[in-house]
Amino acid sequence: MQLTQFSLRKKIIIRFLIVIIIGGLLSLSFGSRLIKNTLIAQAQAKVKHDLATARMIFNEKLNNIKEVIALTAARESLQYSIKNKQHDLLLKQLSSVRKKNRLDILSLTDSEGKVVLRTLNPKILGDDQSKDELVSLALKGGITSNAQIFPREELLKESKDLAGQAAIEFIPTPKAADQQKNRETSGMMLKAASSLMDEKGNLLGVLYGGVLLNRNYEIVDRIKELVYKGEKYKGRETGTATIFQHDLRISTNVRNKGGSRAIGTRVSREVNNAVLSEGKSWIDRAFVVNNWYITAYEPIKNVKNEIIGILYVGMLEKPYIDTTNQVMLTFIFIAALCVALLLVILYFSINRIINPLSKMVVATQEIAKGDLSHKVEIRSNDEIGYLAKSFNKMTQDLKTANEKLLGWTKTLEKKVDERTKELTEMQAHLIQSEKLASLGKLAAGIAHEINNPLGGVLIYSHLLLEDTNRNNPHYENLKKIVKETSRCKDIVKGLLEFARPKEPERSSIAPNDIIEKSLSFFKTQALFQNIKIKKKYSSDLPKITADKDQLYQVFINILLNAAEAMEGNGTLTLSSESDKEGKYIHILFTDTGPGITEEDEKRLFEPFFTTKEVGKGTGLGLAISYSIIRKHKGTIAVSSQAGKGTTFTVSLPIKSKKGNDE
Ligand SMILES: Nc1ncnc2c1ncn2[C@@H]1O[C@H](COP(=O)(O)OP(=O)(O)OP(=O)(O)O)[C@@H](O)[C@H]1O
Ligand SMILES: [Mg+2]
Repeated sequence: MQLTQFSLRKKIIIRFLIVIIIGGLLSLSFGSRLIKNTLIAQAQAKVKHDLATARMIFNEKLNNIKEVIALTAARESLQYSIKNKQHDLLLKQLSSVRKKNRLDILSLTDSEGKVVLRTLNPKILGDDQSKDELVSLALKGGITSNAQIFPREELLKESKDLAGQAAIEFIPTPKAADQQKNRETSGMMLKAASSLMDEKGNLLGVLYGGVLLNRNYEIVDRIKELVYKGEKYKGRETGTATIFQHDLRISTNVRNKGGSRAIGTRVSREVNNAVLSEGKSWIDRAFVVNNWYITAYEPIKNVKNEIIGILYVGMLEKPYIDTTNQVMLTFIFIAALCVALLLVILYFSINRIINPLSKMVVATQEIAKGDLSHKVEIRSNDEIGYLAKSFNKMTQDLKTANEKLLGWTKTLEKKVDERTKELTEMQAHLIQSEKLASLGKLAAGIAHEINNPLGGVLIYSHLLLEDTNRNNPHYENLKKIVKETSRCKDIVKGLLEFARPKEPERSSIAPNDIIEKSLSFFKTQALFQNIKIKKKYSSDLPKITADKDQLYQVFINILLNAAEAMEGNGTLTLSSESDKEGKYIHILFTDTGPGITEEDEKRLFEPFFTTKEVGKGTGLGLAISYSIIRKHKGTIAVSSQAGKGTTFTVSLPIKSKKGNDE
């Protein structure tokens, strides 16, 4: 599964979760190790301290014995009894001392080290103790004390019971070092030996006494009492102490499964090596008999500094493990709480980041759909806020650009429409021109053909009329022939004028003058008497170069048509103006006549198009005007509104290009 297929929110959450989980696990692992190490270090420091206390109690016991021996040896009564060989008294005195001070042995030698009195076994006498490591020192004077291995034969000499107390069967111990033997018969004794002097300083003998440690629980129980105050944990004693003879438990308050003291079990091989072989102290956890303990071991040495045993103290590990677990659980709970808190913070933080981004995504979708007015509502002053601002600005710009584009498109469409209209108009104009041109050609051909014969008919009919008497019945008919032929001649003339207009004879003229001149032609005519004439001439109209007679002809025709349309009643407005570019002048003839139908407007400039009754109009007036104005590179246009009137506009170029006339 790839992370890329997830949403940004999930990606961030997953990545943070990984960081939180890794961080949590690391801190758990370091934390637990730290807690364990700290607690165990504390426990070890305590057990080390306990061992020192144990040693103190051990030495205190030894000193105790030493003091008893020293004080007894210093008694004058004792010296006296020795000197006077009062054996029974001596025995009585020393036995009392032994019992009172709870010594296991108390014996006396002579000045050569031969036993002269054994309080426990008075029958055995005379054996040599001068080789004994403590007695030998005492024989040299003074007092000495130490722990000592006491062989079985020596014990037997002192007492059978003591030998029995010392003898211990080995209990198989899985972790202990290999051993050849399976029982221990010697014992470990805390012993002191003191020289006995007479008043002159002569050696009388050596007094030695001691306590057998095997199965003697006084020291270990005192250690337990003093150090651990009998503390118990879940029914088990927390603190234990042991005295080992070599690796064998000879005095202990460690209990075996049956609940009895674990006498006869042995120390583990590891401790054996470290303490007995190498003479080091050992502080570590160890499996003692049937439980794990935090332990401390140190060697017990004899007077020759040889390691003869081990002093041990240990605390049950379980309370520490339980405390550690308790602390760990609290730690895990706090860590879990922190993770939960982190997750909540993470959730809200991510929402704070993602929500604006989601808004942005919605905005982009809206904009993609075409809603350019959509705005992102983010006002934060951070990167996302800036992004939103930029985004809004971008959409605003896009909107403006789009609107401009739309505007341009509309303008373009309008322009296209205008151009199309212009083109259509031009095309219509062109068609009209071509139509008129072809009509002109046809008309010219016909006119040319019939002009001469018509001339002949007119001359001959004239001659005939002159020769005919007025009373002749044919006279009137001949007269009609001459009249109609003349009319035909006029029509043909007009037709020729339209088809082959004369070249304009140009001169510089003021257009307003031509209008005025055309008007003056009609002044006297009855048709114009009731027509109101309005003049709106432009005063600064430039002069144009044109054929004044031809223009005159055009204007007369237009004025006449207007008057005829208004049937002699109405308003005729004449105006002149030049366009802004200064290229054309426009002369406008506006009447208040009936107007021209759309149908008629299309055919207006065709030759012979007339609405006037036969004989009144030939329909050549506007056709000829059109030809003339075209020769002048101008245009003649009409606009009409039915019932309101008609405006004819003649436009002429201000500067004509000579030689380019058609
Ligand atoms: N101002 C106008 N108002 C209404 N109709 C007009 C106007 N000017 C021209 N016409 C129409 O245009 C037709 C053609 O005019 P045109 O001047 O070519 O011929 P005509 O006046 O009929 O005859 P002719 O001028 O040859 O004597 C007229 O018959 C008339 O119907
Ligand atoms: Mg006319």
